[in-house]
Amino acid sequence: MPRTPFLAGNWKMYTTPEEARDLARALRDGVAGVEGVDVLVCPPFTSLAAVAEELAGTPIALGAQNMYYEDQGAFTGEVSPLMLVALGVSYVLVGHSERRQYFGERAETLNRKVKAALAHDLKPILCVGEKLEEREAGASWKEVVRGQVRAGLEGLGAEDLGPVAIAYEPIWAIGTGKTATPQAAQDAHAMIREALAETFGAATAEKTRILYGGSVKPDNVRELMAEPDIDGALVGGASLKAETFVPIIRFQE
Ligand code: 13P
Repeated sequence: MPRTPFLAGNWKMYTTPEEARDLARALRDGVAGVEGVDVLVCPPFTSLAAVAEELAGTPIALGAQNMYYEDQGAFTGEVSPLMLVALGVSYVLVGHSERRQYFGERAETLNRKVKAALAHDLKPILCVGEKLEEREAGASWKEVVRGQVRAGLEGLGAEDLGPVAIAYEPIWAIGTGKTATPQAAQDAHAMIREALAETFGAATAEKTRILYGGSVKPDNVRELMAEPDIDGALVGGASLKAETFVPIIRFQE
Protein backbone atom coordinates (compact mmCIF):
# COMPACT_ATOMS: atom_id res chain seq x y z
CA MET A 1 0.00 0.00 0.00
CA PRO A 2 1.59 3.32 -0.97
CA ARG A 3 1.99 5.84 1.82
CA THR A 4 0.27 9.18 1.18
CA PRO A 5 2.80 12.05 1.31
CA PHE A 6 2.36 14.04 4.49
CA LEU A 7 3.43 17.69 4.66
CA ALA A 8 3.25 19.18 8.13
CA GLY A 9 4.10 22.65 9.40
CA ASN A 10 5.32 23.24 12.94
CA TRP A 11 4.84 26.92 13.68
CA LYS A 12 6.73 26.64 16.99
CA MET A 13 6.44 29.77 19.18
CA TYR A 14 5.45 32.06 16.34
CA THR A 15 2.20 33.85 15.41
CA THR A 16 -0.36 35.79 17.40
CA PRO A 17 -3.92 34.60 16.73
CA GLU A 18 -4.36 37.32 14.11
CA GLU A 19 -1.13 36.42 12.33
CA ALA A 20 -2.06 32.76 12.51
CA ARG A 21 -5.45 33.50 11.00
CA ASP A 22 -3.83 35.33 8.08
CA LEU A 23 -1.37 32.50 7.49
CA ALA A 24 -4.14 29.88 7.65
CA ARG A 25 -6.18 31.83 5.09
CA ALA A 26 -3.23 32.13 2.74
CA LEU A 27 -2.50 28.40 3.03
CA ARG A 28 -6.13 27.50 2.49
CA ASP A 29 -6.14 29.49 -0.74
CA GLY A 30 -2.71 28.24 -1.75
CA VAL A 31 -3.54 24.55 -1.45
CA ALA A 32 -7.01 24.68 -2.98
CA GLY A 33 -7.37 21.80 -5.41
CA VAL A 34 -4.22 19.94 -4.32
CA GLU A 35 -4.79 16.19 -4.25
CA GLY A 36 -2.96 13.11 -3.08
CA VAL A 37 -1.22 14.65 -0.08
CA ASP A 38 -2.09 15.11 3.58
CA VAL A 39 -1.48 18.59 4.96
CA LEU A 40 -1.19 19.57 8.61
CA VAL A 41 -0.42 22.76 10.49
CA CYS A 42 0.57 22.91 14.16
CA PRO A 43 0.09 26.46 15.48
CA PRO A 44 0.82 27.42 19.08
CA PHE A 45 -1.98 26.62 21.56
CA THR A 46 -3.14 30.23 21.68
CA SER A 47 -3.76 30.27 17.93
CA LEU A 48 -5.50 26.91 17.61
CA ALA A 49 -9.04 28.29 17.89
CA ALA A 50 -8.48 30.99 15.27
CA VAL A 51 -6.84 28.56 12.86
CA ALA A 52 -9.57 25.97 13.44
CA GLU A 53 -12.12 28.55 12.31
CA GLU A 54 -10.20 29.41 9.16
CA LEU A 55 -9.56 25.79 8.22
CA ALA A 56 -13.05 24.43 8.91
CA GLY A 57 -14.26 22.58 5.84
CA THR A 58 -10.81 22.50 4.22
CA PRO A 59 -8.61 19.41 3.90
CA ILE A 60 -5.87 21.00 6.04
CA ALA A 61 -5.70 19.23 9.40
CA LEU A 62 -4.97 20.90 12.69
CA GLY A 63 -2.34 19.72 15.14
CA ALA A 64 -0.95 20.78 18.51
CA GLN A 65 2.77 20.99 19.27
CA ASN A 66 2.51 19.30 22.63
CA MET A 67 0.03 18.26 25.31
CA TYR A 68 -0.10 16.75 28.77
CA TYR A 69 -1.25 13.17 29.24
CA GLU A 70 -3.90 13.66 31.93
CA ASP A 71 -7.50 14.52 31.03
CA GLN A 72 -7.77 17.28 33.64
CA GLY A 73 -6.54 18.22 37.08
CA ALA A 74 -4.26 20.50 39.04
CA PHE A 75 -1.54 20.77 36.39
CA THR A 76 -1.01 24.50 36.07
CA GLY A 77 -0.02 25.63 32.62
CA GLU A 78 -0.73 22.34 30.88
CA VAL A 79 -3.19 21.48 28.11
CA SER A 80 -5.04 18.17 27.98
CA PRO A 81 -6.03 15.92 25.08
CA LEU A 82 -9.71 16.62 25.82
CA MET A 83 -9.14 20.35 25.39
CA LEU A 84 -7.41 19.82 22.06
CA VAL A 85 -10.11 17.52 20.72
CA ALA A 86 -12.74 20.10 21.70
CA LEU A 87 -10.98 22.64 19.46
CA GLY A 88 -10.98 20.38 16.42
CA VAL A 89 -7.37 19.26 16.77
CA SER A 90 -6.64 15.84 15.27
CA TYR A 91 -2.84 15.50 15.50
CA VAL A 92 -0.28 16.15 18.20
CA LEU A 93 3.52 16.38 18.05
CA VAL A 94 5.12 14.37 20.82
CA GLY A 95 8.72 14.73 21.94
CA HIS A 96 9.94 17.39 19.56
CA SER A 97 13.68 17.82 20.19
CA GLU A 98 13.04 21.34 21.55
CA ARG A 99 10.72 19.82 24.17
CA ARG A 100 13.34 17.22 25.05
CA GLN A 101 16.18 19.75 25.09
CA TYR A 102 14.64 22.81 26.79
CA PHE A 103 11.78 21.34 28.82
CA GLY A 104 13.36 18.13 30.00
CA GLU A 105 10.86 15.75 28.42
CA ARG A 106 11.90 12.20 29.09
CA ALA A 107 11.13 8.94 27.34
CA GLU A 108 8.62 7.74 29.91
CA THR A 109 6.60 10.96 29.75
CA LEU A 110 6.60 10.84 25.97
CA ASN A 111 5.34 7.28 25.98
CA ARG A 112 2.47 8.34 28.24
CA LYS A 113 1.67 11.20 25.88
CA VAL A 114 1.58 8.88 22.87
CA LYS A 115 -0.80 6.57 24.71
CA ALA A 116 -3.01 9.45 25.91
CA ALA A 117 -3.21 10.82 22.36
CA LEU A 118 -4.33 7.45 21.01
CA ALA A 119 -6.86 7.04 23.81
CA HIS A 120 -8.45 10.32 22.70
CA ASP A 121 -8.30 9.69 18.95
CA LEU A 122 -5.51 12.19 18.45
CA LYS A 123 -2.88 11.03 15.98
CA PRO A 124 0.55 11.32 17.56
CA ILE A 125 3.64 12.28 15.56
CA LEU A 126 6.54 10.98 17.62
CA CYS A 127 9.63 13.09 16.98
CA VAL A 128 13.08 11.52 17.22
CA GLY A 129 16.58 12.56 16.21
CA GLU A 130 20.18 12.65 17.31
CA LYS A 131 22.34 15.54 18.49
CA LEU A 132 25.43 16.65 16.61
CA GLU A 133 27.73 15.14 19.30
CA GLU A 134 25.92 11.83 18.97
CA ARG A 135 26.22 11.87 15.18
CA GLU A 136 29.93 12.69 15.47
CA ALA A 137 30.44 9.93 18.01
CA GLY A 138 29.95 7.45 15.17
CA ALA A 139 27.51 4.59 14.86
CA SER A 140 26.03 5.03 18.35
CA TRP A 141 23.67 7.77 17.10
CA LYS A 142 21.69 5.01 15.47
CA GLU A 143 21.15 3.37 18.84
CA VAL A 144 20.00 6.74 20.22
CA VAL A 145 17.36 7.09 17.51
CA ARG A 146 16.26 3.45 17.69
CA GLY A 147 15.99 3.82 21.46
CA GLN A 148 13.80 6.92 21.11
CA VAL A 149 11.46 5.06 18.76
CA ARG A 150 11.27 2.01 21.00
CA ALA A 151 10.75 4.01 24.21
CA GLY A 152 8.14 6.30 22.65
CA LEU A 153 6.06 3.38 21.41
CA GLU A 154 6.62 1.00 24.32
CA GLY A 155 3.59 -1.04 25.29
CA LEU A 156 1.80 -0.50 21.98
CA GLY A 157 0.86 -3.32 19.64
CA ALA A 158 0.75 -3.40 15.85
CA GLU A 159 -3.00 -2.78 16.04
CA ASP A 160 -2.35 0.58 17.77
CA LEU A 161 0.07 1.92 15.21
CA GLY A 162 -2.33 2.98 12.44
CA PRO A 163 -2.66 6.61 13.57
CA VAL A 164 1.01 6.97 14.57
CA ALA A 165 3.62 8.75 12.46
CA ILE A 166 7.31 9.23 13.22
CA ALA A 167 9.25 12.40 12.46
CA TYR A 168 13.00 12.03 12.11
CA GLU A 169 14.61 15.38 12.84
CA PRO A 170 18.39 15.32 13.29
CA ILE A 171 18.93 18.13 15.78
CA TRP A 172 21.94 19.47 13.89
CA ALA A 173 19.67 20.12 10.87
CA ILE A 174 16.93 22.05 12.70
CA GLY A 175 16.88 25.75 11.96
CA THR A 176 20.48 25.65 10.82
CA GLY A 177 19.99 25.57 7.07
CA LYS A 178 21.98 22.29 7.11
CA THR A 179 19.70 19.65 5.69
CA ALA A 180 20.71 16.03 5.92
CA THR A 181 21.55 14.88 2.41
CA PRO A 182 18.69 12.89 0.90
CA GLN A 183 20.85 9.77 1.18
CA ALA A 184 21.68 10.35 4.86
CA ALA A 185 18.01 11.01 5.66
CA GLN A 186 16.99 7.92 3.68
CA ASP A 187 19.46 5.77 5.61
CA ALA A 188 18.07 7.00 8.93
CA HIS A 189 14.48 6.47 7.80
CA ALA A 190 15.25 2.94 6.59
CA MET A 191 16.81 2.19 9.96
CA ILE A 192 13.72 3.52 11.77
CA ARG A 193 11.46 1.42 9.56
CA GLU A 194 13.59 -1.61 10.38
CA ALA A 195 13.22 -0.86 14.10
CA LEU A 196 9.44 -0.61 13.64
CA ALA A 197 9.44 -3.91 11.77
CA GLU A 198 11.35 -5.63 14.60
CA THR A 199 8.72 -4.58 17.13
CA PHE A 200 5.50 -4.41 15.14
CA GLY A 201 6.12 -6.58 12.10
CA ALA A 202 7.00 -5.72 8.52
CA ALA A 203 3.44 -5.02 7.36
CA THR A 204 2.87 -2.38 10.04
CA ALA A 205 6.29 -0.84 9.43
CA GLU A 206 5.50 -0.55 5.72
CA LYS A 207 2.33 1.37 6.46
CA THR A 208 3.80 3.80 8.99
CA ARG A 209 4.71 7.23 7.69
CA ILE A 210 8.12 8.58 8.57
CA LEU A 211 8.55 12.33 8.05
CA TYR A 212 11.86 14.14 7.71
CA GLY A 213 12.40 17.46 9.49
CA GLY A 214 15.33 19.88 9.48
CA SER A 215 15.66 22.84 7.13
CA VAL A 216 13.16 21.54 4.57
CA LYS A 217 12.65 24.22 1.92
CA PRO A 218 10.91 24.49 -1.45
CA ASP A 219 14.22 23.81 -3.19
CA ASN A 220 15.15 20.60 -1.36
CA VAL A 221 11.76 18.98 -0.68
CA ARG A 222 11.57 17.21 -4.03
CA GLU A 223 14.85 15.33 -3.69
CA LEU A 224 14.05 14.37 -0.11
CA MET A 225 10.58 13.12 -1.03
CA ALA A 226 12.06 11.09 -3.89
CA GLU A 227 13.70 8.76 -1.35
CA PRO A 228 11.74 5.56 -0.80
CA ASP A 229 11.47 5.77 3.00
CA ILE A 230 10.82 9.53 3.28
CA ASP A 231 7.05 9.87 3.42
CA GLY A 232 6.68 13.50 4.33
CA ALA A 233 8.22 16.56 5.88
CA LEU A 234 7.86 18.31 9.21
CA VAL A 235 8.68 21.89 8.34
CA GLY A 236 9.58 24.66 10.78
CA GLY A 237 10.75 28.00 9.42
CA ALA A 238 9.50 27.49 5.87
CA SER A 239 5.99 26.67 7.12
CA LEU A 240 5.54 30.19 8.51
CA LYS A 241 4.98 31.76 5.11
CA ALA A 242 2.49 30.60 2.51
CA GLU A 243 4.98 31.49 -0.22
CA THR A 244 7.39 28.84 1.05
CA PHE A 245 5.00 26.26 2.56
CA VAL A 246 2.62 26.10 -0.43
CA PRO A 247 5.38 25.05 -2.89
CA ILE A 248 6.49 22.42 -0.35
CA ILE A 249 2.94 21.05 -0.25
CA ARG A 250 2.80 21.20 -4.04
CA PHE A 251 6.17 19.46 -4.48
CA GLN A 252 4.73 16.99 -6.97
CA GLU A 253 3.67 19.66 -9.48
P1 13P B 1 13.28 24.00 10.50
O1 13P B 1 12.48 23.58 9.28
O2 13P B 1 13.12 25.46 10.83
O3 13P B 1 14.70 23.54 10.43
O4 13P B 1 12.62 23.23 11.75
C1 13P B 1 12.44 21.88 11.68
C2 13P B 1 11.58 21.44 12.84
O5 13P B 1 12.03 21.43 13.97
C3 13P B 1 10.19 21.06 12.56
O6 13P B 1 9.59 20.49 13.67
